[in-house]
Amino acid sequence: MIEDRGFIIHQGAIPADAQERLVADIRAVAAAAPFFSPETRGGRRMSVRMTSAGRYGWFSDRRGYRYVERHPSGVPWPPIPESVLALWRTYGSRARDPDCCLVNYYGAGAKMGLHRDADEADFSWPVLSISLGDPARFRMGGPERSDPSRSIPLESGDVVVIGGAARLSYHGIDRIAFGGSRLLPKGGRINLTLRVVD
Ligand code: SIN
Ligand code: FE2
Repeated sequence: MIEDRGFIIHQGAIPADAQERLVADIRAVAAAAPFFSPETRGGRRMSVRMTSAGRYGWFSDRRGYRYVERHPSGVPWPPIPESVLALWRTYGSRARDPDCCLVNYYGAGAKMGLHRDADEADFSWPVLSISLGDPARFRMGGPERSDPSRSIPLESGDVVVIGGAARLSYHGIDRIAFGGSRLLPKGGRINLTLRVVD
Protein backbone atom coordinates (compact mmCIF):
# COMPACT_ATOMS: atom_id res chain seq x y z
CA MET A 1 0.00 0.00 0.00
CA ILE A 2 1.36 3.41 -1.02
CA GLU A 3 -0.01 6.74 0.12
CA ASP A 4 0.71 9.85 -1.94
CA ARG A 5 -1.02 13.20 -1.35
CA GLY A 6 -3.83 11.33 0.44
CA PHE A 7 -4.45 8.95 -2.48
CA ILE A 8 -4.10 5.34 -1.29
CA ILE A 9 -2.81 2.92 -3.92
CA HIS A 10 -3.20 -0.83 -3.43
CA GLN A 11 -0.91 -2.29 -6.07
CA GLY A 12 -1.72 -5.74 -7.38
CA ALA A 13 -4.84 -5.95 -5.21
CA ILE A 14 -6.82 -8.07 -7.68
CA PRO A 15 -5.57 -11.54 -8.69
CA ALA A 16 -5.57 -12.50 -12.38
CA ASP A 17 -8.62 -14.79 -12.19
CA ALA A 18 -10.63 -12.10 -10.41
CA GLN A 19 -9.62 -9.60 -13.12
CA GLU A 20 -11.00 -11.98 -15.76
CA ARG A 21 -14.26 -12.28 -13.78
CA LEU A 22 -14.54 -8.48 -13.55
CA VAL A 23 -14.01 -8.08 -17.31
CA ALA A 24 -16.71 -10.67 -18.03
CA ASP A 25 -19.10 -8.88 -15.66
CA ILE A 26 -18.33 -5.48 -17.25
CA ARG A 27 -18.94 -6.94 -20.72
CA ALA A 28 -22.42 -7.92 -19.53
CA VAL A 29 -22.98 -4.38 -18.22
CA ALA A 30 -21.89 -2.93 -21.57
CA ALA A 31 -24.16 -5.34 -23.46
CA ALA A 32 -27.17 -3.94 -21.55
CA ALA A 33 -25.92 -0.32 -21.44
CA PRO A 34 -23.55 0.27 -24.39
CA PHE A 35 -20.50 2.52 -24.17
CA PHE A 36 -20.95 6.08 -25.46
CA SER A 37 -18.66 9.13 -25.73
CA PRO A 38 -20.12 11.99 -23.66
CA GLU A 39 -19.79 15.59 -24.69
CA THR A 40 -18.06 18.04 -22.36
CA ARG A 41 -19.71 21.25 -21.28
CA GLY A 42 -17.59 22.94 -23.95
CA GLY A 43 -19.12 20.69 -26.64
CA ARG A 44 -16.11 18.45 -27.25
CA ARG A 45 -16.35 14.63 -27.38
CA MET A 46 -14.44 12.94 -24.58
CA SER A 47 -11.76 10.51 -25.80
CA VAL A 48 -12.84 8.03 -23.12
CA ARG A 49 -15.96 5.91 -23.73
CA MET A 50 -18.28 5.42 -20.80
CA THR A 51 -21.19 3.56 -19.37
CA SER A 52 -22.40 2.89 -15.83
CA ALA A 53 -24.01 0.37 -13.53
CA GLY A 54 -26.07 1.06 -10.43
CA ARG A 55 -28.93 3.33 -9.39
CA TYR A 56 -27.20 6.23 -11.08
CA GLY A 57 -24.93 6.66 -14.04
CA TRP A 58 -22.61 9.53 -14.73
CA PHE A 59 -23.49 11.69 -17.70
CA SER A 60 -22.20 14.82 -19.37
CA ASP A 61 -23.34 17.11 -22.17
CA ARG A 62 -23.47 20.84 -22.86
CA ARG A 63 -25.67 21.27 -19.78
CA GLY A 64 -22.83 19.97 -17.62
CA TYR A 65 -21.88 16.95 -15.55
CA ARG A 66 -24.49 15.08 -13.52
CA TYR A 67 -25.84 11.73 -12.39
CA VAL A 68 -28.85 10.37 -14.28
CA GLU A 69 -31.11 7.37 -13.65
CA ARG A 70 -31.08 6.07 -17.23
CA HIS A 71 -28.68 5.28 -20.03
CA PRO A 72 -29.06 7.67 -23.02
CA SER A 73 -31.06 4.90 -24.79
CA GLY A 74 -33.68 5.14 -22.02
CA VAL A 75 -32.95 1.82 -20.30
CA PRO A 76 -32.15 1.79 -16.57
CA TRP A 77 -28.50 1.14 -15.73
CA PRO A 78 -27.81 -2.54 -14.97
CA PRO A 79 -27.02 -3.49 -11.35
CA ILE A 80 -23.44 -3.20 -10.10
CA PRO A 81 -21.90 -6.69 -10.41
CA GLU A 82 -21.20 -8.59 -7.16
CA SER A 83 -17.53 -8.95 -8.16
CA VAL A 84 -17.27 -5.14 -8.15
CA LEU A 85 -19.24 -4.69 -4.91
CA ALA A 86 -16.89 -7.15 -3.18
CA LEU A 87 -13.95 -4.82 -3.91
CA TRP A 88 -15.88 -1.82 -2.60
CA ARG A 89 -16.61 -3.68 0.65
CA THR A 90 -12.93 -4.52 1.06
CA TYR A 91 -11.29 -1.24 0.05
CA GLY A 92 -14.09 1.36 0.08
CA SER A 93 -16.57 0.94 2.91
CA ARG A 94 -18.50 -1.78 4.68
CA ALA A 95 -21.06 0.77 5.93
CA ARG A 96 -22.98 1.03 2.67
CA ASP A 97 -22.76 0.07 -0.98
CA PRO A 98 -22.11 2.57 -3.78
CA ASP A 99 -24.88 4.00 -6.01
CA CYS A 100 -22.83 4.22 -9.18
CA CYS A 101 -20.11 2.27 -10.93
CA LEU A 102 -18.82 4.44 -13.73
CA VAL A 103 -17.08 2.34 -16.39
CA ASN A 104 -14.46 4.18 -18.45
CA TYR A 105 -12.88 2.57 -21.50
CA TYR A 106 -9.59 4.04 -22.75
CA GLY A 107 -8.68 3.05 -26.29
CA ALA A 108 -5.45 4.05 -28.08
CA GLY A 109 -4.72 7.72 -27.40
CA ALA A 110 -7.51 8.22 -24.84
CA LYS A 111 -6.77 10.25 -21.72
CA MET A 112 -8.60 12.10 -19.02
CA GLY A 113 -7.74 15.67 -18.09
CA LEU A 114 -7.24 16.82 -14.50
CA HIS A 115 -10.57 17.07 -12.71
CA ARG A 116 -12.18 16.60 -9.31
CA ASP A 117 -15.00 14.15 -8.56
CA ALA A 118 -17.37 16.66 -6.99
CA ASP A 119 -20.88 15.81 -8.29
CA GLU A 120 -21.72 13.69 -5.21
CA ALA A 121 -23.70 14.86 -2.16
CA ASP A 122 -21.43 13.64 0.67
CA PHE A 123 -17.67 13.78 0.35
CA SER A 124 -17.10 11.70 3.47
CA TRP A 125 -17.53 8.61 1.25
CA PRO A 126 -14.47 7.65 -0.78
CA VAL A 127 -14.39 7.10 -4.52
CA LEU A 128 -12.84 3.72 -5.33
CA SER A 129 -10.97 3.29 -8.60
CA ILE A 130 -10.24 -0.14 -10.13
CA SER A 131 -7.83 -0.51 -13.06
CA LEU A 132 -8.08 -3.34 -15.62
CA GLY A 133 -6.11 -3.90 -18.80
CA ASP A 134 -3.40 -1.65 -20.22
CA PRO A 135 -1.09 0.30 -17.90
CA ALA A 136 -1.70 4.02 -17.42
CA ARG A 137 -0.08 7.08 -15.87
CA PHE A 138 -2.33 8.39 -13.10
CA ARG A 139 -1.78 12.06 -12.23
CA MET A 140 -2.45 13.20 -8.70
CA GLY A 141 -2.62 16.80 -7.55
CA GLY A 142 -4.18 18.66 -4.65
CA PRO A 143 -7.46 20.45 -3.93
CA GLU A 144 -6.54 23.41 -6.18
CA ARG A 145 -6.02 23.04 -9.89
CA SER A 146 -2.74 24.96 -9.56
CA ASP A 147 -1.34 22.60 -6.89
CA PRO A 148 1.76 20.64 -7.94
CA SER A 149 0.97 17.18 -9.28
CA ARG A 150 2.85 14.03 -10.07
CA SER A 151 2.00 10.89 -11.96
CA ILE A 152 2.44 7.26 -11.01
CA PRO A 153 1.94 4.09 -13.06
CA LEU A 154 -1.29 2.15 -12.56
CA GLU A 155 -1.42 -1.47 -13.67
CA SER A 156 -4.18 -3.97 -14.19
CA GLY A 157 -5.42 -5.09 -10.78
CA ASP A 158 -4.49 -1.90 -8.92
CA VAL A 159 -7.08 -0.27 -6.67
CA VAL A 160 -6.94 3.41 -5.67
CA VAL A 161 -8.92 4.96 -2.82
CA ILE A 162 -9.70 8.62 -3.46
CA GLY A 163 -10.89 9.58 0.00
CA GLY A 164 -10.03 11.54 3.10
CA ALA A 165 -7.68 14.43 2.37
CA ALA A 166 -7.59 13.46 -1.34
CA ARG A 167 -11.36 13.16 -1.83
CA LEU A 168 -11.63 16.52 -3.62
CA SER A 169 -8.15 16.51 -5.11
CA TYR A 170 -7.48 16.90 -8.81
CA HIS A 171 -6.54 13.76 -10.71
CA GLY A 172 -6.49 12.42 -14.26
CA ILE A 173 -4.95 9.98 -16.71
CA ASP A 174 -2.02 11.34 -18.76
CA ARG A 175 -1.83 8.41 -21.17
CA ILE A 176 -2.14 4.67 -21.44
CA ALA A 177 0.32 2.15 -22.85
CA PHE A 178 -2.01 0.72 -25.48
CA GLY A 179 -1.52 -3.03 -25.88
CA GLY A 180 0.61 -3.25 -22.72
CA SER A 181 -1.60 -5.88 -21.11
CA ARG A 182 -3.22 -9.06 -22.39
CA LEU A 183 -6.31 -8.82 -20.24
CA LEU A 184 -8.41 -7.19 -22.98
CA PRO A 185 -7.68 -9.07 -26.22
CA LYS A 186 -8.22 -5.95 -28.36
CA GLY A 187 -6.17 -3.76 -26.01
CA GLY A 188 -7.19 -0.74 -23.98
CA ARG A 189 -7.89 0.03 -20.36
CA ILE A 190 -11.03 -0.21 -18.28
CA ASN A 191 -11.32 1.89 -15.17
CA LEU A 192 -14.20 1.46 -12.74
CA THR A 193 -15.00 4.20 -10.26
CA LEU A 194 -17.47 3.47 -7.49
CA ARG A 195 -19.32 6.37 -5.94
CA VAL A 196 -21.90 7.05 -3.25
CA VAL A 197 -24.07 9.64 -4.98
CA ASP A 198 -26.80 10.83 -2.59
C1 SIN B 1 -11.53 9.06 -13.17
O1 SIN B 1 -10.93 9.85 -12.48
O2 SIN B 1 -12.75 9.17 -13.36
C2 SIN B 1 -10.81 7.91 -13.82
C3 SIN B 1 -9.48 7.65 -13.26
C4 SIN B 1 -8.83 6.50 -13.97
O3 SIN B 1 -9.18 6.21 -15.13
O4 SIN B 1 -7.95 5.86 -13.39
FE1 FE2 C 1 -12.22 11.16 -11.37
